[in-house]
Parts: sequence; structure tokens; C-alpha cells
Amino acid sequence: MPHAHVPKALQYLSGFGNEFSSEALPGALPVGQNSPQRTPFGLYTEQFSGTAFTQPRSEMRRSWLYRIHPSAQHPAFARLSRQLLGMQAGRVTPNRLRWDPLPMPDEDTDFIDGWVAMAATGAADQPAGISLYHYAANRSMDRVFFDADGELLVVPQAGRLRLVTEFGVLEIEPLEIAVLPRGLKFRVELLDVHARGYIAENHAAALRLPDLGPIGSNGLANPRDFQVPVARYEDIREPVALVQKFLGELWGCELPHSPLDVVAWHGNNLPCKYDLRRFNTLGSISFDHPDPSIFTVLTSPSGTPGLAEMDFVIFPSRWLVAENTFRPPWFHRNLMNEYMGLIQGAYDAKAQGFVPGGASLHSCMSAHGPDAQTCARAMAAELQPYKIDHTMAFMFETRQVLRPSVFALDCPQRQADYDGCWTSLPVTFNPQ
Ligand SMILES: [Fe+2]
Repeated sequence: MPHAHVPKALQYLSGFGNEFSSEALPGALPVGQNSPQRTPFGLYTEQFSGTAFTQPRSEMRRSWLYRIHPSAQHPAFARLSRQLLGMQAGRVTPNRLRWDPLPMPDEDTDFIDGWVAMAATGAADQPAGISLYHYAANRSMDRVFFDADGELLVVPQAGRLRLVTEFGVLEIEPLEIAVLPRGLKFRVELLDVHARGYIAENHAAALRLPDLGPIGSNGLANPRDFQVPVARYEDIREPVALVQKFLGELWGCELPHSPLDVVAWHGNNLPCKYDLRRFNTLGSISFDHPDPSIFTVLTSPSGTPGLAEMDFVIFPSRWLVAENTFRPPWFHRNLMNEYMGLIQGAYDAKAQGFVPGGASLHSCMSAHGPDAQTCARAMAAELQPYKIDHTMAFMFETRQVLRPSVFALDCPQRQADYDGCWTSLPVTFNPQ
């Protein structure tokens, strides 16, 4: 019977480094040495690095893989005729944008076919910024994919996914997320008829938990809740298509075997999943509510302290108890660029128009806040402790301006009247 370790928590940046290990065959993992002359079971060794060899230990992401075929054994890749939808950048606009959900596909569409590029900070050849996609699929992949352009944060909105990766299997459902390192080979199988959601492709430093400062040593997303897979391998000697995304384009080749053939592994450059329902939401118990950074799940830091290439922020179910406080998100203008999505329920700043599967973009210094209906209700409310329930909105927030794709600007799901949700805000000023 294959020996497998139980799923473990991924402890980003803990004091003694981060080492995880798993073997699908007992004894497959070399002990005390990464690359012995002859490995157990005749496996090939391969290092999988997500950081440069010389980066500080606190940044280092690398794993050792013990596999049936080395990844190097592949033929030349050829550019695929079918490319991702929406990869052409559109006109940059300071205007606020909002979209209805994209429809589920009619034709046979796997997870990769179903990517639609919505916005990006820049070209994928820069080691900075993010690219944002929506996905919708109706069938499992029968090919294997890796993304040379960035780390992937997958946020399902509908349908469960089975992610079969080099490191093992992760299953995620709406209200869970997966983080897949740059270059990880994986196949996505659908566990339901349809699947739809959001993807952030992070070109910058790998995502990690934010520092907690005065919050202390617990709270927000706790390290123990990030789960990694156990080793599992496919010894399939049949043709398998391998597709990669490289500088925004899809390239493919055919292997004579499954590339998901890792029998054992150890290291810290590996996929993980997290259940957003485990997020320990913190907030005010006196008056006013904190900045939404209090809801940060994961962050990709830039070189400037506190300034993120990407923050992944959620707005989960939570109690509102603050006294004498305007409780919805206040009106604001800010430096960061905010791309929001909704997984379930309603977002507390919008009475209508922002629905599960939809999205909005508020760019640097574009003014936004609760719509007129929400604002009027919030100012008139008799305040009592109140629970916002059955909701999960989120935000991909970045320091760089997001350029919507031509597709995002022209698609019928774009709401032409988004500005209208603020036009009926009444003047309540009375100098007397
Ligand atoms: Fe905002």
C-alpha cells in the first residue's frame, strides 16, 4: 500500500525554513542527500526552483522532485493555433468598470481553453505585476499545463476542481483557493458539470502571509490552514499533450508519457490550498472600521515596504458592531488599483449590479464607495450588532495600473451604466 504523509500545513517564512516531504513509495525519498548517484527505485532527481539560487533564505522557494522521467526529456514546443481569449491589451481608462458574469461555455471547453484575460498590469516578461483572468469550463483537461509566466491564484466561484499536480492532488470548491507555483505542471478535472471562477497570475515575488504587526502572532489566515498535497504519481506510457504559457502565448508538445510522474518530493516550492471560511476576520469593536488591508489573506511584496505587487483580500461573513459608524466601506480614492470579484452572496457596498461571477475595476485615484441606495440605508440605520452573512467578495489589489483587455472593454457583459449607481447621491449639506 502506498505510504503517504497526511496533508500538512504550509508555514510560510517560519524561522527554521519550510521543508515538506512526501513519498508515494516508502523509501523513495533519499535521506540526508538531495541528489545521490543512484536514487531509490531508479528515479531521476530534479530541482524545481521558484526563486533564483542566490535569493535570501527567507525568500527561497525550491523543491526536489524524484520522478520517472526528467522534465528535460521533451521535444520542441510549437505555438498552438488556439490562444487565450482577450490577450490583446485595450485602451487604458481612468473610468470605473464593472462586468456581469461571463456565460458558461456551450462548446467543449477545458480549464485552459476557458481562460479569458480581463486586465493586466503589463507584459508578462516583466518580473512584476499581475494578469487577471476569468475562467469557465465544462470538461476536464486531458492535457497537462504549466505557466512559465507566473504563480497562479485560483479562486473558484462555481464548480469543484480537482487539481492533479506533480506534487499530488488538491481538490478545491467555491470558498476555497489554490496557489500554484510558477512552472508547476498540473491537470484540472471538473467534479461538477460546469466550473467558473477567477485567476490571478502573479509575475512578482511569490505570495505569502502578510506580517501581523500589532495584531500579534495569530489572526487573519493562520499558517496551519494552508494544506499541501501528498505525493502521487502516474506511470502512464501513452501520449500526453503538454502545454505551457510563455510570455502570454500557449505552446505545446506531445510527450510519450504522463509528466505527472513524481514519486517523492521535498521542499517548499509546492502548491497549496486554503479554505477562506477559516479566515479569522478581525475588525473594530469600538468605532470606525479599519482599512480593508485588515482582510488580507496573501500578499506579494514589492521592493518597497508595505507596497504590494498584489494583495489578495477577502470580505467574508462577519459581525459589524462598531458604534456610531458608517458601516459600509467608506467613499475613497487611493493609490492602489482594485479588481474585485464576488464568490457568493452580496457585497455590503453595493445594493445591486455586482453579482457572483461578476467583477469591477477601480483604478488608481478613481473615486468609489457604496452606491446611493446602500449609502442612504447606512446613514438612516439604527445601529445594532449585525452579521453580514453568506457572503464572500474578494479583491486583487495591485500598486500598478491594470490595463483592461480589448475583450473586457468590448464584451456585452460590461455594464455601460456603472457610474449611474452614484449619480443619485443627494446633497445633504445644510450650513444652517
Ligand atoms: Fe476600494
